Amino acid sequence: MAERILRVTKIREGTVIDHIARGHALDVLKILGITGRREKGIITVAINVPSKKYGVKDIVKIEGKELMEDEVDKIALLAPHATINIIRDYEVVKKQRVKLPTVIRDIIKCGNLSCISNSKEPIQPTFYVESEEPLRLRCHYCGRIMERDDIMKQF
Ligand code: CTP
Ligand code: ZN
Repeated sequence: MAERILRVTKIREGTVIDHIARGHALDVLKILGITGRREKGIITVAINVPSKKYGVKDIVKIEGKELMEDEVDKIALLAPHATINIIRDYEVVKKQRVKLPTVIRDIIKCGNLSCISNSKEPIQPTFYVESEEPLRLRCHYCGRIMERDDIMKQF
């Protein structure tokens, strides 16, 4: 009988972002600035994949690109349970659970336009993580609360 399942193939070099909460794969691409128009390698997006640990999950595979630390930090904001796998020559050479730090610097801007972090002063935008799920960040300077949708709008 013909094989009925076409599994997502393994990649040779690059990054696999695994265990993304269902429905959030496209947000992960967005925060990485991946539109599909400039990238040369194969990008695979799998949504609603059955998973032993989480029931269902999303996966993003990016051939030819190893994520940088600041990119991993951005993913932690929106996919706090993701695993980042760096692949070289078909092998997983590094596996990293993303971790949301308690203080977030320089990744997002404060939504309050009169916040001092939005003035011309050289001030690093800084937020405290009040809650991971649902995501709530509090601005160090003005106290503005930033939620998931406010953050997604900036990417
Ligand atoms: N993967 C891939 N290409 C490779 C190697 C791995 O696309 N050459 C993918 C796998 O399909 C999986 C992820 O990278 O989605 C992690 O691979 P691996 O560590 O082998 O899988 P697990 O042991 O299931 O990972 P975990 O323990 O993190 O669930
Ligand atoms: Zn502020």
